[in-house]
Amino acid sequence: MNTARPIALGVNIDHVANVRQARGTSYPEPVQAALAAEQGGADSITVHLREDRRHINERDVELLAATIQTHLNLEMAVTDEMLAFAEALKPADCCLVPERREELTTEGGLDVAGHESRLRHTCARLAEAGIRVSLFVDPDVAQLEASARVGAPVVELHTGRYAEATDRNSRAAALRELQEAASRAYALGLIVHGGHGLHYHNVQPVAMIPEIVELNIGHAIVARAIFTGLETAVHDMKRLVLEARHG
Ligand code: PXP
Repeated sequence: MNTARPIALGVNIDHVANVRQARGTSYPEPVQAALAAEQGGADSITVHLREDRRHINERDVELLAATIQTHLNLEMAVTDEMLAFAEALKPADCCLVPERREELTTEGGLDVAGHESRLRHTCARLAEAGIRVSLFVDPDVAQLEASARVGAPVVELHTGRYAEATDRNSRAAALRELQEAASRAYALGLIVHGGHGLHYHNVQPVAMIPEIVELNIGHAIVARAIFTGLETAVHDMKRLVLEARHG
């Protein structure tokens, strides 16, 4: 019997809204993308409502919350505005991320250890609204311990260092770092997710880390969808993830 923990695939559809915003049109529609992703096997839909609304906007998040069949994972910065929005909308999950206006994408993990009291308060408010909070953190013991202390049920390990490694040795070292962080987080009682920079050729070693129970992937899936369609792109990623976990 295969006793490995199940692993879920969250699909980030921000880039669908990026294409829309590039021309200021009403298409492509993120809701249509979410439904296609679900048909391809997505276990949840992730969107990042950024402070500058550069891709996803409030209307998108509200429509997604009302239409998807799986569940919504709202990525957001720790600001009063976002907190109020999440409390009103009540997505199933909220992933708290650091945000800088100039960045192309989320660059580093959240400094939980440096902002414990603010994050403890934020986690408590979101939990009160029935939202499961995840903190996007680097694979760093101090950040994991702080995440457990502030009361977050979930951490999402930033897989960027692994994904961006340019040679075999640094990739192996970054993978070991993720393996150790996942094991430490699990021992602290945290649910462990992972994401950032994962694609069809690097996802499997991460999906094999036994404590990781969800991966959130966007760019690679939407990029492949240009050629295969989104349903197939999600299906192909899901197959790789499940194959790595269950053989
Ligand atoms: N997880 C988090 C917290 C992110 O901020 C992002 C990027 O929006 C992802 C996962 C997905 O990263 P990628 O688009 O590189 O797959």
